[in-house]
Amino acid sequence: MGGRTGAEPGRAGAANAPGKTRGKKESVNETGEKKAVQRAASFNGMTAREWAAASKNVWNDVSSPRSGTQLDHGATFPEKLAARIIAIYSREGDLVLDPFVGTGTTLSACSDAGRNGIGIELNERYHAAAEGVTKRERRTAAVRLAAIKDDCRNVLHHVEPESVQLVITSPPYANFIQKAEADRKKTHKNSIITKENNSRVKRYSDQPEDFGNLQYGEFLDAIKGLMEKLLVVTKPGGYNVWIVKDARDTRRGVPYVSFHSDFARLGEAAGFAFHDLIVWDQNEQRRLVLLGYPSVFYTNQNCSFMVVLRKPVT
Ligand SMILES: C[S@@+](CC[C@H](N)C(=O)[O-])C[C@H]1O[C@@H](n2cnc3c(N)ncnc32)[C@H](O)[C@@H]1O
Repeated sequence: MGGRTGAEPGRAGAANAPGKTRGKKESVNETGEKKAVQRAASFNGMTAREWAAASKNVWNDVSSPRSGTQLDHGATFPEKLAARIIAIYSREGDLVLDPFVGTGTTLSACSDAGRNGIGIELNERYHAAAEGVTKRERRTAAVRLAAIKDDCRNVLHHVEPESVQLVITSPPYANFIQKAEADRKKTHKNSIITKENNSRVKRYSDQPEDFGNLQYGEFLDAIKGLMEKLLVVTKPGGYNVWIVKDARDTRRGVPYVSFHSDFARLGEAAGFAFHDLIVWDQNEQRRLVLLGYPSVFYTNQNCSFMVVLRKPVT
C-alpha cells in the first residue's frame, strides 16, 4: 500500500518526541514548506508536531453538544470524538465506514474533515436521521456520504473489498441496555444515574437482527462474524476503532464485564492486530454514584475505551 499505510509511529525518531516538538526554536523554524513535506509524508496528513500532540492515550476533552436527534437516540458519541479518530487514522479523501451509524455522527464528522463516509443502520428512525446528515452536510462536491438502511452483517453487499481506511463505530452493548432500562425503572428511579448522568439509553428496536437484543455470548459471536467481514473491506494497514464501555451485571453475580478486552480478543481472532487502546475519560460528564456501600467497593465506570485494531500489511 505504499508509504501511507506503511508509516509507523516513531519512525520519524526524535523529531516526533513531544519534548522536542514543543520547543520554541522548532516552532520558529517549522516553515510552511516543512509542514507541507511532513503532511505529504505521513499517512494521515499530520505534521510531526500534530502527530505528537494527538498521541495522548487518555482523552478528556472530546465532549461536544448533542443535537435533539442525538439526545433522542440516547447513545450517540460526541462529534468531536469521531473527528479526532478520523484525523488520526485517515487522511482527506479516504473512505470511513460506520456499521452502527445511528443518527449519523460519524458521517457528519467525515463531512467536516473531507473524508468520504458510509454508514449502516438497522433502525428506520435513526437511519432517516443519518440520511438527513448526508443531504445536509456534504461539505464539498468531492465528499461522498451514504447512509444505508440494512443489517450491518450485509456489509459486503454495500462496500468494496479493501476500500476502507478506517472503521469507527460504537456498537450496541448486547442486551445490557434492556437491563439498564429495567434497573432505571426500579432501583435508580430517583437517583442521579437517571437524573443527572444523561442516562437516556433505551432499546433501539425489537428486531431480532438488532445486536442490542442479543445475549452476551451470541452478541460476541455476532461481533466476531462482523469483524471478519470488516477485515475484508478494510485496506491492508487500515484501522478499525471500536468505542466500547465496560459494564457490570451485579444482579447476576458478574462484577465486571470487560467489553474492551473481549473486543480486542475477538479482533485478533478475526485476523486484526490489537494495535492500541485509548481511554475516553468521562469523569467530567458524569457525577459519582454510591455503589455497593457499605459492603463491597466498586468504582464508577466513568470512561469508555477505543479498541484500535489494525489490518496487517501483508
Ligand atoms: C450505540 S448506537 C450508535 C450511535 C452512533 N454512534 C451515533 O452517534 O448516532 C448503535 C446503533 O446500532 C444500531 N444497530 C443495532 N443492530 C444493528 C445491525 N444489525 N445493523 C446495523 N445497525 C444496528 C442501533 O439501532 C443503534 O442505532
